[in-house]
Amino acid sequence: MPDAPSESVLRFEHVTVSFDGMPALRDVSFEVLKGQARIILGAASSGKTVLLKSAMGLNPVEKGSIFVFGKDITRLKEHELFDIRSRLGMLFQESALFDSLTIEENVAYPLLNQKAIHCPAGEVQGRVEEALRFVELGQTLRRFPSELSGGMRRRAAIARAVVSRPELLLYDSPTAGLDPITAHTIMALIIKERDLANTTTLIVTHRYQDGNLVANFRYNPENGKLEPARESEQKLRTKFLVMREGQLIFEGGQAELEAQSDPYIAKFRKMQGG
Ligand SMILES: Nc1ncnc2c1ncn2[C@@H]1O[C@H](COP(=O)(O)OP(=O)(O)OP(=O)(O)O)[C@@H](O)[C@H]1O
Ligand SMILES: [Mg+2]
Repeated sequence: MPDAPSESVLRFEHVTVSFDGMPALRDVSFEVLKGQARIILGAASSGKTVLLKSAMGLNPVEKGSIFVFGKDITRLKEHELFDIRSRLGMLFQESALFDSLTIEENVAYPLLNQKAIHCPAGEVQGRVEEALRFVELGQTLRRFPSELSGGMRRRAAIARAVVSRPELLLYDSPTAGLDPITAHTIMALIIKERDLANTTTLIVTHRYQDGNLVANFRYNPENGKLEPARESEQKLRTKFLVMREGQLIFEGGQAELEAQSDPYIAKFRKMQGG
């Protein structure tokens, strides 16, 4: 099978990241194979954002190694790191759009400014429009972020994350602060991207139902809706990671997560907000 999950896309090996001597990640190890998904749960300040940013080479790694597409990014020269980053997409917490740029300019930004992406100038406009159509924002090219709703801004930020057609996508709290219906729409986009492009996907979330959707649903390209996945599909490709004070204290499937009696872990498997 061509998409058999075998290729290692991301591997943390005993990673410790500290800021001013305070560890934010402590001895974290895990691996994600091509096409798989990880749902990252954990309290505020437990290290979820630090984990995602470390996978992009944005944090100083004190100990251990981080392999992205098989290369240890803690040992790369800057231009090699740029090459690796050009194959990643990240949705930053709070979207992080540039307020002074239009939606179109925001989405074009990685193509125009990340040299390692190598997008020919003549293709930029088409790629931007394609990414905005993907998130169903084809009508908002000329608007500024302040002229969009919170959910639309999140969709624009997803368009910016996918415009380079990354092989690995990191979503930091994609549904935070959204109403349940908009949150579902955002998760449906994330699942659509995963299923159409077989993108390896890491998602930080506080909402257990986000993980439940990723683990149990798939995108049906015929009607554009989510439908329950067959048992053998996503369930096996999705694992949950639980962070606590910088440590990875749980890694496993949904059934294993639901069997955990640790009260800290149990808190994250409650459905919230409808
Ligand atoms: N650039 C930085 N400089 C100093 N400390 C940092 C930096 N980035 C993160 N930290 C610290 O690392 C710890 C983990 O932060 P992180 O942002 O990963 O939390 P989080 O799990 O994403 O929380 P939240 O759910 O609130 O987003 C926090 O104590 C934070 O203050
Ligand atoms: Mg965070």
